[in-house]
Amino acid sequence: MANYNLQINNKGYRVDVEEDTPLLWVLRDHLGLVGTKYGCGIAQCGACKKVLWETAYEGSKFL
Ligand code: FES
Repeated sequence: MANYNLQINNKGYRVDVEEDTPLLWVLRDHLGLVGTKYGCGIAQCGACKKVLWETAYEGSKFL
């Protein structure tokens, strides 16, 4: 397990998750932020896309 401090939409969060937990599951399952969806799971559809520092990333790939 690892602790992460996240800043999402100008709100701070602290999570304690396994290091290989995809960002999508952290957002949905740990923080209850269900606006981001799971689609294809293979980084093709863009349903899990997030914007970090003005760059878009697929949330199923990393934390
Ligand atoms: S679920 Fe399809 S790109 Fe992430």
